[in-house]
Amino acid sequence: MTATVIVTRQLPADVEAAVLALASDDLKVLYHKSDDPLDRATLLEWCSSSAVVGIYCLLTDRIDAEVLEACGDGLRVVSTMSVGYNHIDVEWCKAHGVAVGYTPDVLTETTADLAVALLLATARRIPEAANAVKAGEWTTWKPMWLTGKDVFGSTVGIVGLGRIGAAIARRLRGFGCAIRYTGASGPKPDLAGPVEAEFRDMDALLGESDFVVVACALVPATRGLIGAAQLRAMKSDAVLVNISRGEVVDQDALIEALRAGDIGAAGLDVTTPEPLPASSPLLSMPNVVVLPHIGSASVRTRELIAKMAAQNLQAGVQGAAALPFPVP
Ligand code: NDP
Ligand code: DGY
Repeated sequence: MTATVIVTRQLPADVEAAVLALASDDLKVLYHKSDDPLDRATLLEWCSSSAVVGIYCLLTDRIDAEVLEACGDGLRVVSTMSVGYNHIDVEWCKAHGVAVGYTPDVLTETTADLAVALLLATARRIPEAANAVKAGEWTTWKPMWLTGKDVFGSTVGIVGLGRIGAAIARRLRGFGCAIRYTGASGPKPDLAGPVEAEFRDMDALLGESDFVVVACALVPATRGLIGAAQLRAMKSDAVLVNISRGEVVDQDALIEALRAGDIGAAGLDVTTPEPLPASSPLLSMPNVVVLPHIGSASVRTRELIAKMAAQNLQAGVQGAAALPFPVP
């Protein structure tokens, strides 16, 4: 069987060209040249009907044991066009000598920009205000119309002071915010020092923060990390911002907390599921801003992460000793 590389989605033109250029007499590229996900049945069929050596995937593809086993013994690399890799069974890959590549650092600043934009938009009710203008509701200047919550001088609690969490903290220091953080590794003076961030355990962070920003990775320990008890522990006018993965927040509990007034508002770049169905109660709450997972969505950054993922794919397929950007 000819060795095969699977690419699950249409890529920017120059990255597409680089990936297609991997093809040779001995290697074919199965390219899903579409902006819609490759359906699972086709992915499984592609995996089992050829000798797959590499997969270039997106965060929308579930690369689990079923998919990996369908590829057979020749699989060398799984390369995702994302820094999050919770959609890949990394343990399986490690156990079977399959390299996994991801795209750290290059999207950090772009994602932090979006996180702060979402925090501001939610706190200052920007989408609601813009919609009111379009709907002809701007009749005059009114003292308390569309008043929101101050960001400057507030206390912001960051769940996960990693690359993106720290970049968010740097920006919010510019707004005069006091930064608190929590995470798996305890105090992190190297990242916390420059932004004068103070470590807190989760309960203390939730009770102290005006804004809680979720920026951690989705791992078994963070699935449902922000649940009913955590939401109740927040201030009643607190704003929750999630740019990590939808599954880190118990969404049903969030809906209940918003209905009960346990917290003030929520800004979500990530949800469960994605896309969020139009019927979700979140979409009819005026104090909720939902974005379609656009944290890293600048033209430059998306082109860069697509390119990094192609570099990982190429190195893996060509049998390099190590990928340029391997998952830890
Ligand atoms: P990092 O690896 O630098 O940071 C991950 C963070 O997760 C660390 O701070 C870590 O805490 C924290 N974490 C891990 N386990 C736990 C736990 N049990 N409890 C609390 N915190 C925990 O990753 P990045 O900053 O580069 O990216 C973070 C995530 O952001 C990605 O995994 C991805 O899911 C998401 N993302 C979303 C984007 C979007 O478009 N919305 C764009 C890019 C990324 P500690 O430091 O204490 O170990
Ligand atoms: C990631 O990289 O994990 C994001 O969610 C998309 O850029």
